[in-house]
Amino acid sequence: MPTQDRREARPPAGTGRRGEADRPRQGRRPGASETARLLASVLLPNVARGVVLRRPLMTRLLTGLDADRRAVAALREMRERHGDDPLPLSLAGRRAALVLSPQDVRRLLRETPEPFSPGGREKNGALSHFEPHGVLVSDHADRPRRRAANEAALVPGQAIHPDGDTLAAQADEEALALALALHEDGGDLDWRRFTRSFGAMARRMVFGAFAADDHRTTELLYRLRARANWAYAAPVRHKARTEFLDRVRANVERAEPGSLARRLVAGAPAGGGRDTDPRPEDQAAHWLFAFDAAAVVAFRALALLTSLSPGAYAAREEVDTREGLDLPLLRATVRESARLWPTTLVVIRESTRETSWREEVFGAGTAFLIVSSYFHRDSSRLPYADAFEPRIWLDGRAEDEPGILPFSYGPAACAGIDVVPLAVSLFLRALLRDRDLARVDAGGPLPASGLPASLNHFALRFSLST
Ligand code: HEM
Repeated sequence: MPTQDRREARPPAGTGRRGEADRPRQGRRPGASETARLLASVLLPNVARGVVLRRPLMTRLLTGLDADRRAVAALREMRERHGDDPLPLSLAGRRAALVLSPQDVRRLLRETPEPFSPGGREKNGALSHFEPHGVLVSDHADRPRRRAANEAALVPGQAIHPDGDTLAAQADEEALALALALHEDGGDLDWRRFTRSFGAMARRMVFGAFAADDHRTTELLYRLRARANWAYAAPVRHKARTEFLDRVRANVERAEPGSLARRLVAGAPAGGGRDTDPRPEDQAAHWLFAFDAAAVVAFRALALLTSLSPGAYAAREEVDTREGLDLPLLRATVRESARLWPTTLVVIRESTRETSWREEVFGAGTAFLIVSSYFHRDSSRLPYADAFEPRIWLDGRAEDEPGILPFSYGPAACAGIDVVPLAVSLFLRALLRDRDLARVDAGGPLPASGLPASLNHFALRFSLST
């Protein structure tokens, strides 16, 4: 992200009302019916769908109800009615604020982790089920060391990872095995087959080829994630968590040269923090979890590649003609897939002290909620809001927009921001080259414009023929 003028993001001097932190200006507080609407259209659907592990039935129901479009419409109305400042909300006694302006997104993400912490109660409750020491839920003392370990391994900021050749070989291996299996049994490519193969590729990339068959680790993670959807409401399954983290630790210890986990151990800096161990197993656990989001994004990218838009033709041409590791249009397709149908539905920051905005003051401990789709699909601001437009990722348009945050940005951005598009682009090229891909489920090819607000990945189906 280019550095932008952060002064814009600050409230005008003297508008903060010290001492009134707990009493946002009356009138800007949504009324009872508005709060009920926000709950029903924005927050509950996100919880119902499953924050950590998507639930197929709920996903289908919410897609049928066009829930994502309704959520965006509700938030747009709130902004028209109440103005730009974050909108105060009280949710079961929890102080929260809905972020409504892209400039405020920029402020929250850039001024992380202080005064806007990326941790917070909700994330702790969910992620402690399988990665209690992950960087995302680490406090100020432990975060820098764990973040550094993640950066050393995943190398954000570099489009082509230093171990790109090894990652490409792993992607080739799994993609070819999948293509061959589909060819042999004549079946279609559905979510179940895709995710199984993608999961094996993820384990190869994280640990090395030996982990391709380690389905048990993924299975344990899957079970723990299903609990994590309930956050604090479900007690942690300590036995399963210990077995899972022990397996991950053993895999990290065996990690092959060229794998991501090998760099995690080698790159961890010494000193700092209370906990001198960067807890590599918790970091790798997060990666395995997050590769599932990458699978969803990759599968939806197939739907974009079979769409009727010029971007799809250009990206397919890249698949067929471009050699090497650098596949800019396919990487942009991955980012577009995550922009159009974000996998992190709400990005949260929790304030560590009182903060002043244009007219509001919010107390410490306020959870600021950034609903990704509301910003990504803002047709009043983005001419390409509802279209597949990979070039926005190549010509700077996406980076200039503070409200576009599929991988987030700033000091706590996704550490996989570059390695994920690289890994997925390599996998997709290996799968599609010299093969014809067609979407065969009832949805049919996506249109060139007016893309649906939701795309149920569980229901997508493709044929792949030579
Ligand atoms: C398409 C797939 C993915 C998407 C859309 C995605 C997006 C995100 C987002 C939105 C965040 C939250 C950032 C914030 O709170 O500001 C995040 C955090 C993170 N992601 Fe990803 N992610 C993906 C896959 C991955 C993968 C595969 C890895 C590792 C290999 C990874 C590593 C991380 C890490 C380490 C964090 C925590 C960063 C921190 O708190 O400092 N992500 N990701």
